[in-house]
Amino acid sequence: AEEIEWWDFDAAEDLIDAVVGDVSFIIESALDARGQALVAFPGGSTPKPILEKLAQANIRWKNVTIIPTDDRLVPVDNALSNVAMIAKIFIPKGARVLPIASDAADHKLAGSAANARLADLHWPPDLVWLGMGTDGHTASIFPGPDLELVMDSGKDVRAVGVAPDPLPPEAPVNRVTLTGAAIGAARTAILVISGAQKREVLETAIEQGGKSAYPVGRVLDKIVVPVDIYCLDD
Ligand code: 6PG
Repeated sequence: AEEIEWWDFDAAEDLIDAVVGDVSFIIESALDARGQALVAFPGGSTPKPILEKLAQANIRWKNVTIIPTDDRLVPVDNALSNVAMIAKIFIPKGARVLPIASDAADHKLAGSAANARLADLHWPPDLVWLGMGTDGHTASIFPGPDLELVMDSGKDVRAVGVAPDPLPPEAPVNRVTLTGAAIGAARTAILVISGAQKREVLETAIEQGGKSAYPVGRVLDKIVVPVDIYCLDD
């Protein structure tokens, strides 16, 4: 990203209000400009209270399509399913929520299926909202053997299946993720993190840029638009 704007917060409520305000504005502006909006929201624990508050915002949800930035290859009734969390919050508001993953056993097949489904959506996404893990992964773009595949899959490949090695302990299953190119093409992008450990990883990744071993550094390097980073301090 050409520009990175960093916003720090001491209180969770203040971070939530700021992100909800920013995302509401982005979605409403997309609706004004194009009549519909496509947004990608993350899973994980940090976004949940923010997504819950966002759902209460005065947004024309009926014209909004939401996809997860990435998902785990689990059935939708599994607690690890990102799309299930998002659907539970936003379907009652009238939004269209589409899965990115399936419970296919083979991550490569799940990736091609996701890519085919995403091909039908009006592209690029109006917003990609990213989280980050302490290993510097973002969406399901992990350090390790699949990193080059996800980052260099070509501009028309929107999603791929990945087999993280090692599997992340908090959700030890294979994944489907938006690619570096798909995230890089977003009309707007935000990154929301919490804690000093993640802040340090992110600062290093940004310094290292596109050559970083931290996936988040490479992903930020691919994003063309300015990125707002929201950071909650411990
Ligand atoms: C996922 C995510 C992932 C997440 C980070 C941070 O489904 O795993 O999309 O990239 O944002 O792992 O997760 P926490 O907010 O739970 O720390």
